[in-house]
Amino acid sequence: MRYPGVIESYKEYLPVTDKTPIISLNEGNTPLIELRTIPRKLGIDLKIYIKHEGLNPTASFKDRGMTVAISKAVEEGSKAVMCASTGNTSASAAAYAARAGLKAIVIIPKNAIALGKLVQALIHNAMVFALKGNFDDALEIVQKITSEYPVTLVNSINPYRLEGQKTAAFEICDSLGSAPDYHCIPVGNAGNITSYWMGYTQYYEKKKINKKPRMMGFQAKGAAPIVHDRVIKDPQTVATAIKIGNPARWKDAVKALKESGGYINIVSDEEILNTYTLLAREEGIFVEPASATSLAGLIKYYPEGIFEKGKTVVCTCTGHGLKDPDMAIKSSKTPIVVKKIDEILKIIDF
Ligand code: F0G
Repeated sequence: MRYPGVIESYKEYLPVTDKTPIISLNEGNTPLIELRTIPRKLGIDLKIYIKHEGLNPTASFKDRGMTVAISKAVEEGSKAVMCASTGNTSASAAAYAARAGLKAIVIIPKNAIALGKLVQALIHNAMVFALKGNFDDALEIVQKITSEYPVTLVNSINPYRLEGQKTAAFEICDSLGSAPDYHCIPVGNAGNITSYWMGYTQYYEKKKINKKPRMMGFQAKGAAPIVHDRVIKDPQTVATAIKIGNPARWKDAVKALKESGGYINIVSDEEILNTYTLLAREEGIFVEPASATSLAGLIKYYPEGIFEKGKTVVCTCTGHGLKDPDMAIKSSKTPIVVKKIDEILKIIDF
């Protein structure tokens, strides 16, 4: 059977009816890949799976929430949608708005989003504003405009976004046959950790699973408002997707952490980038820097005994590595320029 996307797959758990026009790009159904090399090489006694959300239609997890948010916007008669973004939300909003025939308006922090994401918003013909300010400033403007004008906000303040994103937790439980013991996740605006916890909780209440995981959130060192319990005025990190100082879903994330007996801590840019290259080189999994934060947190805190040995962990990798080609080039060897076969053979040195 042709896979129909997250709304059709999990309709009974979503706020849709027969009257909801479903706007979908067949998002979801992303692979859950077991790590083979990293746990062995680093001496980590855990079964670790990567939920590779970079394999969604616009190459990030945002598509799960966007299909629901855009479908509901169309159902409610909206003609335009708007978001602030560190890049992935704007890429997804632009694509789903194009699919629905809606106008998309996006505000991104100027010179602070990865190239691939900017390209996506542009090619899908969104109206793109580059703000001389950061993500938090952009979100403030978007909230003001959408509260006063007839345009639908599609940041994760929009509850339909969380509804869609929770389907990733359903998929994990469906494919493992149970919930994992731990779920590691990058935390930026804090919508995704909130969504996963909603998903696990609903599956538990419906008796689809008999335990819930501990939610393990990780923030970049220079952009860790939840860890430090204060707004960060000028957040800094190479993981531009999570360069956020005042997360919109802050309270919900804290609630998810508390209810799940979870844990939140920081990882440095260096630790994020080490994990980013490790995943690409040792496992063949290419994710964007912010996405590597989940596994980077596991690798950093495992030696402190934060994870019980022998347990199952899922790490969400939120976006594809191709989103940020500049970082990939910076993190890799340069191509070797040659002209003749002899030069190649000499360098390979069989
Ligand atoms: N990873 C990636 C690749 C992201 O793009 C984001 C958020 C996150 C993690 C964090 O998820 O915000 O739900 O805690 N990106 C948003 C955007 C802010 O505008 O694309 P979160």
